[in-house]
Amino acid sequence: MVRKLLIQLFSCIFAIIVTRCLASTHRQIPSLGLVMSSRDSISTETYLPPDFEVNYYTQTLDHFTYRHESYTTFQQRYIVNFRYWGGANTSSPIFVYTGDEGDITRISQNVGFMTENAPRFNALLVYIEHRYYGKSIPFGSTEAAFANTSTLGYFSSTQALADYAELITYLKRNLSAESCPVIAIGGSYGGMLASWFRLKYPHIVMGALASSAPILYFDGITPQNGYFAVVTKDYREASESCYTTIRQSWSEIDKIAALPNGLITLSKKFQICGPLKSSQELKNTLEMMFVLAAQYNNPPTYPVNKYCDAIDGLPKGSDVLSRIYAAFGAGSPSGSCHFTYKVGLSNTSAWEWQACTELVSPIGADNTTMFQASPFDLKNYTKDCEDVFHVTPRPHWITTEFGGHSIKSVLKKFASNIIFSNGLRDPYSIGGVLQNVSDSVVAISTAQGAHCLDILNALPSDPEWLIMQRNSEIKIVQGWIAEYNTMLVNER
Ligand SMILES: *[C@@H]1O[C@H](CO)[C@@H](O)[C@H](O)[C@H]1NC(C)=O
Ligand SMILES: *[C@@H]1O[C@H](CO)[C@@H](O)[C@H](O)[C@H]1NC(C)=O
Ligand SMILES: *[C@@H]1O[C@H](CO)[C@@H](O)[C@H](O)[C@H]1NC(C)=O
Ligand SMILES: *[C@@H]1O[C@H](CO)[C@@H](O)[C@H](O)[C@H]1NC(C)=O
Ligand SMILES: *[C@@H]1O[C@H](CO)[C@@H](O)[C@H](O)[C@H]1NC(C)=O
Ligand SMILES: *[C@@H]1O[C@H](CO)[C@@H](O)[C@H](O)[C@H]1NC(C)=O
Ligand SMILES: *[C@@H]1O[C@H](CO)[C@@H](O)[C@H](O)[C@H]1NC(C)=O
Repeated sequence: MVRKLLIQLFSCIFAIIVTRCLASTHRQIPSLGLVMSSRDSISTETYLPPDFEVNYYTQTLDHFTYRHESYTTFQQRYIVNFRYWGGANTSSPIFVYTGDEGDITRISQNVGFMTENAPRFNALLVYIEHRYYGKSIPFGSTEAAFANTSTLGYFSSTQALADYAELITYLKRNLSAESCPVIAIGGSYGGMLASWFRLKYPHIVMGALASSAPILYFDGITPQNGYFAVVTKDYREASESCYTTIRQSWSEIDKIAALPNGLITLSKKFQICGPLKSSQELKNTLEMMFVLAAQYNNPPTYPVNKYCDAIDGLPKGSDVLSRIYAAFGAGSPSGSCHFTYKVGLSNTSAWEWQACTELVSPIGADNTTMFQASPFDLKNYTKDCEDVFHVTPRPHWITTEFGGHSIKSVLKKFASNIIFSNGLRDPYSIGGVLQNVSDSVVAISTAQGAHCLDILNALPSDPEWLIMQRNSEIKIVQGWIAEYNTMLVNER
């Protein structure tokens, strides 16, 4: 069950904040009533300021075969911002966001690393939407595109990278900017794409900033349990008693659920909208809440601390579930009931298609975590994917295509100009590159950071360690560009 929750958790920006994004900060955690009730909200359009120009590129459906239907095209959306660009004649850089699992209008408004640094670099900003997301849907409509494996079959990270390569090449020619250096920037799945883009297309992109990119959470490279081990460590560091309470709560829930009318008692205690159908439903919902707080444990609110303060804040002698409810209730307006998190794959979820084909991250919890054990089971996973999408996962493909095993010795020999940035409180960081590989393939981590924090919009309240992380990244990118310009001059 746990594993099913997780496949939705890659995004830099938590889906449910959409409805609040416009009014307030982009960095907050979801209100509990809405916990992941709909990942579709990630496809919500966002209002763009006028300097963000929306364009469409006529993109090739299949870059890798020469069948008649491969030449079918679709309209791929991308956004360009010329406001800060020094122009082609000055070899000013082009920052490209390698679009990930969401609407690109929304993503473009959250990546502060690009807008905030564009003036310093005189950079052109480009944000490319990933195929099958937002408005970049092949076959004319979402219904047609998601009809079956014949139409979904063109939906892969390798096709997406080829889209980016083709579009950037076109754009540079169109702007007579062939000599301008391109830097790929991305977070989470977008961060994986940014690093893979640099590895696969070094002639197109001269450097990559890959934020919170768990490129090693595939094919057994990272222990299954790693994600939940980090979540557990986060809570333990916040408060030992909080951790103990959460750890005890699961069997408490099972105990009450087993009593006559137990589920009704639990539904009332947790103010669930509509009665619970199983104790698992409640446990999944709570687990999702705790896990999300760890992944998006962003300053200045630090939701893990907020939950732990609520749990520890009840008077001495309070029972375990009252304490858990104190955290659960903290997220939604008083008086309203709470929706539970719905588990299960959907045949209309773009992300779940990707997770069911190539992005198979074996993540599971064992009993050393504060959660009940729920190992990743490839057989069950495969069956679910076959039932919902009629597709069989290929758990070894990502490492076959992009590498991952012995990453340090492999990248040391041939790779350059990649920053892998992480916040070590982000549970996905355990699947990231956390060691320096060479002079120019570097890991920039912060002990207290969370998911994608360094590339999201800066806030006045940002702590010193976060500002320093961003400054290190800026300095490294400046170094790449200086080196590139020296090379250009020498070649003339
Ligand atoms: C850029 O350089 C080219 C060739 O030297 C020149 O024709 C063009 O006017 C320049 N463009 C700008 C905007 O300066
Ligand atoms: C998706 O699943 C729903 C509900 O299970 C089903 O009614 C629908 O036909 C499926 N759609 C496709 C394209 O398979
Ligand atoms: C897949 O869906 C498309 C569009 O609806 C349809 O034309 C095609 O026959 C379907 N293919 C299969 C194998 O079901
Ligand atoms: C590219 O070329 C087209 C056609 O010549 C032009 O309309 C467009 O403004 C150019 N610029 C970009 C950024 O696409
Ligand atoms: C955890 O699981 C291991 C192996 O299944 C078992 O030996 C051990 O007793 C369990 N520990 C706890 C605390 O449940
Ligand atoms: C796999 O599915 C079977 C049948 O639904 C279930 O009994 C079993 O516990 C599952 N195993 C895991 C590890 O999830
Ligand atoms: C990697 O090297 C950079 C300097 O290039 C340094 O700032 C950083 O702390 C190093 N990372 C690790 C994990 O040692």
